[in-house]
Amino acid sequence: MRVDTLFLRNFRNYRYLNLELDPHLNIFVGANAQGKTNLLESLVFLATGSSFRTRNEEELVLWGEDSCTAAAQIIKKQQTEKLLVTYCLKEKKKQYFSNGLELKKSAFSGRLLAVLFTPEDLLVVKGAPQARRKYLDEIICRFSPLYAYSLSRYQHILRQRNQLLKKYREKIIASPELASWNIQLAKEGAKIIRKRQYVLHRLGLLARLAQRNLTGREESLLIKYRTSLPKEFLTKDDEIEQALLRALQENEKNECRLGQSLIGPHRDEIIFLLNNRDARLYASQGQQRTLILALKMAELELIKGECGEFPILLLDDVFSELDEKRRRFVVENIEGKIQTLLTGTTAEGMNAFKKVGKILLVERGEIKYNDPRK
Ligand SMILES: Nc1ncnc2c1ncn2[C@@H]1O[C@H](COP(=O)(O)OP(=O)(O)OP(=O)(O)O)[C@@H](O)[C@H]1O
Ligand SMILES: [Mg+2]
Repeated sequence: MRVDTLFLRNFRNYRYLNLELDPHLNIFVGANAQGKTNLLESLVFLATGSSFRTRNEEELVLWGEDSCTAAAQIIKKQQTEKLLVTYCLKEKKKQYFSNGLELKKSAFSGRLLAVLFTPEDLLVVKGAPQARRKYLDEIICRFSPLYAYSLSRYQHILRQRNQLLKKYREKIIASPELASWNIQLAKEGAKIIRKRQYVLHRLGLLARLAQRNLTGREESLLIKYRTSLPKEFLTKDDEIEQALLRALQENEKNECRLGQSLIGPHRDEIIFLLNNRDARLYASQGQQRTLILALKMAELELIKGECGEFPILLLDDVFSELDEKRRRFVVENIEGKIQTLLTGTTAEGMNAFKKVGKILLVERGEIKYNDPRK
């Protein structure tokens, strides 16, 4: 899958942009605050229907204007498709189109697939457990609308159950009402746990391989899913559901006392073990970066397996931070098969690419084609 042309109108600091992209590699070079991340943001906007930087879409509209548009012509399984998203400030409304036909967000997102790596991703290793759950959930949602539905059902159930626990506390122990919420929580929760375990297992194997290659076999990566349940080896939906239900019943007292649900996928952990040690506690900055990179490489393969095609790869400000060996590994893995857009403040280190595509200069919301190496 690739993006042929990108068109922006009043998007962030781009008043007007009509850009033809190289099918393989596009290196965006520019000083700080010129519009490099904005450009990648517009592609994620087209891929997912949302920004990865803000929930407040007003911020996307060029100051003083009343709407913004991002559009792209993409090529997918040898066919072209025109995608367009607009946001209107006055109506606070987004609209999504594919080949001129208006679609709902759910039908629009995922038509373009993109894997993004930004410096903020480092939080997936060092941040709170929630960051890791969110990371995994986003990956799964991308190719499983059913999972996205389960997740929102689960969150709804959890909110209701928590309200009940908070309101009635000990009075509700062993009540039929709580029992009914337990059943629902266990049912939906089991589906989520099962799917997470399954995807994490596949992602883990791919990431393990990537980590090995990235570090010249020095680092071995193991990814584990740790549930809040007593038994870890449950694999079938109904086994997990039963275990979850039992655990909920056994913990009712505790939960009522604290007024919140303590068991379920919202409390589970994803653990990255580097050479058998928890990366959250011990990984150095370089190791964190490498680990995320390995995860992103795994993600590319996973999507290829699910969708039959590689997504596009967006690397914001991370490539130049990698050492020579890691850069070379990335290049070997993407060259010729994955359309990549990467940003940096200098073109230094980009020589790792043998068949370099385009180097583009970003300056105050405008892009100039230039190849400083010539
Ligand atoms: N809605 C908007 N209208 C106009 N300008 C905006 C809007 N939103 C953001 N900007 C400006 O866009 C500029 C470029 O932002 P961007 O994050 O893309 O920079 P960058 O090139 O990635 O810089 P860095 O190298 O520091 O990451 C910023 O100076 C910001 O103030
Ligand atoms: Mg930036």
